[in-house]
Amino acid sequence: MDKITLIKGISMTPVATLESITNLSSYLAALNLDNKQSVLSTENVNGKLKRTYNQTEAVAATGAHARKITALCKELDIDFTRFDKSWQIDIDDVLKLRKACSQEELFQNQSKLPIYCVSNLKGGAGKTTITVTLASGLAIEIPKGYRVGVLDLDPQGTSTAMLKPNFSDDDLSIGDLLMENFELSEGETFSDLCKEAFYETNIPNFRVMCSRPEDRQHEFYVKMRENEAEEAGESYNAYTAMEKIIDSVKDDFDILFIDTSPYFSAMTLAGHYVATSLIVPIRPSENDQDSSEKYVKFLADMYSLLMGMGHKGYDNVKVMLSGIRRSSVSQVRIAQNIRMACNKSRDFQHIYTHEFIESDAVTNCAEDYCTVYDYSASEYPASKASLKLAQNEYRLIINEIELECCELWGI
Ligand SMILES: Nc1ncnc2c1ncn2[C@@H]1O[C@H](COP(=O)(O)OP(=O)(O)OP(=O)(O)O)[C@@H](O)[C@H]1O
Ligand SMILES: [Mg+2]
Repeated sequence: MDKITLIKGISMTPVATLESITNLSSYLAALNLDNKQSVLSTENVNGKLKRTYNQTEAVAATGAHARKITALCKELDIDFTRFDKSWQIDIDDVLKLRKACSQEELFQNQSKLPIYCVSNLKGGAGKTTITVTLASGLAIEIPKGYRVGVLDLDPQGTSTAMLKPNFSDDDLSIGDLLMENFELSEGETFSDLCKEAFYETNIPNFRVMCSRPEDRQHEFYVKMRENEAEEAGESYNAYTAMEKIIDSVKDDFDILFIDTSPYFSAMTLAGHYVATSLIVPIRPSENDQDSSEKYVKFLADMYSLLMGMGHKGYDNVKVMLSGIRRSSVSQVRIAQNIRMACNKSRDFQHIYTHEFIESDAVTNCAEDYCTVYDYSASEYPASKASLKLAQNEYRLIINEIELECCELWGI
């Protein structure tokens, strides 16, 4: 007891401080690895299990007739007995059934690619949760089979951890592409590499370009390239490299989402440059409202910069109320005040009609590197009612986004 008190009372030497922090870092890394190992499977490309459906859920997801779905599965060679339960299929089978049941061709965007940048420098505003939930929901919940991608521009890699938790040092990150940290094999083009770096997930038509902590070096890389260019009497723009990446993959996607970091960087600016719409998540608390007000002011300054760089204008710039607890009187009041403020313009809609509510299902799913759309209620280990409520609520926002996209595509 005495010894512990004694050690706790003594301040550390610089060397001991460094050792202590290094140890702490390795304990946390080991904990993280343990978590991942207990949750992840080696079966799928991103380490996550595919969503499964029981018969009732499959009927709802595919539009197949309840009495005919079993026969249809047999016809399509779908083995609904291969899992533990008497009738269960996975997301790949759902897509097959959708295709068989639908008269319509699957959607393939032929015109403009909507790119949603989820943007707020306030940490914890809900950027990543909104990005991964809405993107996976658009891919999985809408029978049109939209091809959706997420570009993780935050070196914290939170979207990466949710969508490709088995992302490794051998894989390509957005930073590798931007900093030309790669070697092309014979016959391979930069465009091929960009396509390759959008990794598959456990959802068939949903891919992710990942990010890692080392991507922070992009900031220094940009400074270095700017200096070199200046000395040579030329100019260097970080956003042109980002544009090249988007150009390489634009035919492979119908909708893209960009997750951003809670600090401003050359990568953030480039992300805002290539985006065609902004979603600004704001949590309904006085603190968040205050910092978001400052952020939107900053956004106006940043946009002046983007205009100077030749940006053609956004299709939409809208606030999304995030993490709102409907049972909290003060949160609902603050949310209403934000709504009133955003509704002042007669020409533009500045706020999404539906709210990204707070949900226990979000936090429960996140523990397993999942979004609420990675599970069906029948396989979800916690409150099924909570999962269904979250899925239904977020689907309303997904529908709003789909509507915006359809307006853009002119359909
Ligand atoms: N609707 C929600 N319901 C429950 N928890 C939520 C919800 N939205 C976000 N959270 C939780 O709040 C925390 C912060 O959310 P998130 O990581 O999405 O914010 P962020 O803006 O991306 O943060 P950062 O600025 O660090 O990138 C996370 O733990 C997340 O699980
Ligand atoms: Mg984030």
